[in-house]
Amino acid sequence: MSAAAASRPIVVSGMRPTGKLHLGHLLGTLRNWVQLQEHYRCHFFVADWHMLTTDYEKPSDVGAVGEEMVLDWLAAGIDPERSVIFRQSDVLEHAELAVLLGMITPVPWLERNPTYKEQREQLVDRDLSTSGFLGYPVLQAADILLYRASAVPVGADQVPHIELTREIARRFNHLYGPIFPEPQALLSASPRVAGLDGRKMSKSYGNAISLDEDLGSVEQRLGRMATDPRRVRRTDPGDPADCPAFRLHQVYCTPDEIEYVTAGCKTASIGCLDCKKVMIKHVVADLARHRERRAAMAARYGSVGEVLHAGGTRARVEAQATMHDVRAKLGFGGAREV
Ligand code: TRP
Ligand code: SF4
Repeated sequence: MSAAAASRPIVVSGMRPTGKLHLGHLLGTLRNWVQLQEHYRCHFFVADWHMLTTDYEKPSDVGAVGEEMVLDWLAAGIDPERSVIFRQSDVLEHAELAVLLGMITPVPWLERNPTYKEQREQLVDRDLSTSGFLGYPVLQAADILLYRASAVPVGADQVPHIELTREIARRFNHLYGPIFPEPQALLSASPRVAGLDGRKMSKSYGNAISLDEDLGSVEQRLGRMATDPRRVRRTDPGDPADCPAFRLHQVYCTPDEIEYVTAGCKTASIGCLDCKKVMIKHVVADLARHRERRAAMAARYGSVGEVLHAGGTRARVEAQATMHDVRAKLGFGGAREV
């Protein structure tokens, strides 16, 4: 790493290995991560312990799922030369710091977390009365503070977790002396891609375009994607601002194409299928390119396991430096090497 790269502000973000990635991950998260590599020293990790907070009863083959996920990261342009790519469970310091942060985190801070309340209500099919699930944000705070990150790219639903991380950092610094910067949430500038039914794209809603979906099926399903409900008949005008499909036009289409479909929609001079075709060809081409790059990355790196292994080694060096200081502040023989 060059001196310039070493002095860049630090970014940390994680993704739970819950299964195959979809277009929402690629456009909403990964493309943003790729950009951040230009200006930050980035740490991107597989949040495999976090996956267990909800899926502890039937853990999938988390190692293999994580490697498939990271292959999509590489195909999207996350660069293992520039960014530290690793698995949370390969860096035990995440657990050590989480234990210590847990000592100073009041339970009411966790109980009033809106994401916690919402998920307890939504995921009714499982028992989430575990300490691990309540403590999810404490582990997340450890993930972030361990690398002394200044910025954390996340979706809007994660902002309360970053706020909690800041509060935990502030409390730690107040009690033991300054050690952690307070990280900022970095909200992605890219518009959130809608799922086929207009809700947020999510595998659990069945409205997602998986990155490995058959391209014929992608074309067909996008052709049926939700549009402005005012366009009941072909002759009814609509407004792209109220059309879920149009958010994909905004990502993919040229200014000329945007102008053409906007005018066509508002005057009902084109039908929705013709309008969508303009966008669908770009989506299909993008997915095809992503797959080519994915295959190229699989060939270049042989095993993603090795990328993760090398990233884990780099992450541990940084994590141990932080824990050295943390242990010293807490009186645990800071000089101990492990
Ligand atoms: N909670 C995040 C999510 O569900 C994943 C995550 C775990 C994370 N640890 C993190 C994100 C640290 C940013 C930083 O999307
Ligand atoms: Fe959406 Fe295009 Fe139909 Fe307008 S014409 S509602 S922008 S799909």
